[in-house]
Amino acid sequence: MRIKYSISVIFIVVLVIIEKENNIISKVSEKLVNLPRSIQQSVSPASASGGRKHILLLATTRSGSSFVGEFFNQQGSNMFYLFEPLWHVGRMLSVEMDGTNATVAGPVYRDVLHQLFLCDFSLLEIFIKPPPKDHVTAALFRRYSSQSLCEESICSPFDRKAFEKFHCLERRCGPLNLTLASQSCMQKKHHVIKSVRVQQLETLRSLAEDPRLDMKFIQLVRDPRAVLASRMVAFSREYKIWKRWAMDEDLPVDEDEVRKLKENCDNIRMSAEIGLEQPPWLRGRYMLVRYEDIARFPIAKAAEMYGFIGIPFTATVEEWILKNTQASKKVRGVYSTQRNSSEQVEKWRFSIPFKLVQLVQKACGPTMTLFGYKFAENKDMLINKSVSLIEERTFL
Ligand SMILES: *[C@@H]1O[C@H](CO)[C@@H](O)[C@H](O)[C@H]1NC(C)=O
Ligand SMILES: *[C@@H]1O[C@H](CO)[C@@H](O)[C@H](O)[C@H]1NC(C)=O
Ligand SMILES: *[C@@H]1O[C@H](CO)[C@@H](O)[C@H](O)[C@H]1NC(C)=O
Ligand SMILES: *[C@@H]1O[C@H](CO)[C@@H](O)[C@H](O)[C@H]1NC(C)=O
Repeated sequence: MRIKYSISVIFIVVLVIIEKENNIISKVSEKLVNLPRSIQQSVSPASASGGRKHILLLATTRSGSSFVGEFFNQQGSNMFYLFEPLWHVGRMLSVEMDGTNATVAGPVYRDVLHQLFLCDFSLLEIFIKPPPKDHVTAALFRRYSSQSLCEESICSPFDRKAFEKFHCLERRCGPLNLTLASQSCMQKKHHVIKSVRVQQLETLRSLAEDPRLDMKFIQLVRDPRAVLASRMVAFSREYKIWKRWAMDEDLPVDEDEVRKLKENCDNIRMSAEIGLEQPPWLRGRYMLVRYEDIARFPIAKAAEMYGFIGIPFTATVEEWILKNTQASKKVRGVYSTQRNSSEQVEKWRFSIPFKLVQLVQKACGPTMTLFGYKFAENKDMLINKSVSLIEERTFL
């Protein structure tokens, strides 16, 4: 009971803070609106952000976002990269509300992201468990996946007694001092955040419209049949029902599970439709990328993404990609990003029964059509290696 109560209190505090933050942001935009016209015109997004680009890599779980995130994480010293900071927010909200409610979570995700792009960790701190002390935390999710959070300049002296689950791998650091992280963030040229939690691109409109940010949204999508096959391996507990269906063709289908899948696909499709429509607030700020294209043409696609953002594609990133797409078959756990990606891209076709493929095709039909994923009409077509299920497409 007490835990439940304290969570509710935190939740209310969060809502109050978010409200305040909104006021600040709206005050700022009011001020901008009231500026004389000549000044307004000179405050173009690029100059207000000082040439700094803010990139959000949007995806869903198991669509290759850890891998694509590395394209930016590996860029080196002028990029501030955060790996899935909304993990903390999602976890706390789902405890509080018994499953994440998109209506409530959407605005919270938006505001946390907004602050993080401005190098402000204070809203995120409220969601970190246990709460940071003096802005120092030993619990930041996957700290080691952000080169920026393990750099020399924010590596506090190693403390043998302080256990940190997600500690830096390349050097021994003490718990993360978020004040230092924020200072380092402000000195970096560009800011990149990867997230699998934002459900609707439209909820992020205020980020695109904030003159302090020069936002670029990259939406990463993947064949939903491949995503399902991958989730059944990575999240075997959550996907127990699907695994049972896979083993027993005659088991009746649980409509609830299929509905969840459909919702997921519809969210991805609706975000992409808005992005591809290019409403004024998104013009020049949205790019759609298919995981399958990245897997098959990683260097070309990475260069294209950098071109879209408007920053130089470096040799360091290119080398990392070469090393991690053609290298060995060595398996390094389910989150491994090192694999033979051409071979990997259609492997799911041999690991998932046709019955499940049919279910996905039914639930995600419009999504698959939009992205150019061909339907497998029967089992033979599914496992026929000379038939590709990927249509060649360019978006925009
Ligand atoms: C989500 O929360 C909103 C606002 O509290 C509520 O109106 C809505 O019914 C909730 N949705 C679900 C699916 O629980
Ligand atoms: C974190 O870093 C800031 C900035 O250098 C420093 O002032 C502060 O004392 C540090 N916090 C702790 C708890 O060491
Ligand atoms: C990767 O897979 C492709 C397709 O099966 C194959 O042609 C290529 O030789 C493989 N590369 C390596 C380095 O294993
Ligand atoms: C696989 O597809 C090709 C091209 O459509 C077709 O010619 C071939 O007969 C198919 N093979 C099998 C085993 O169905």
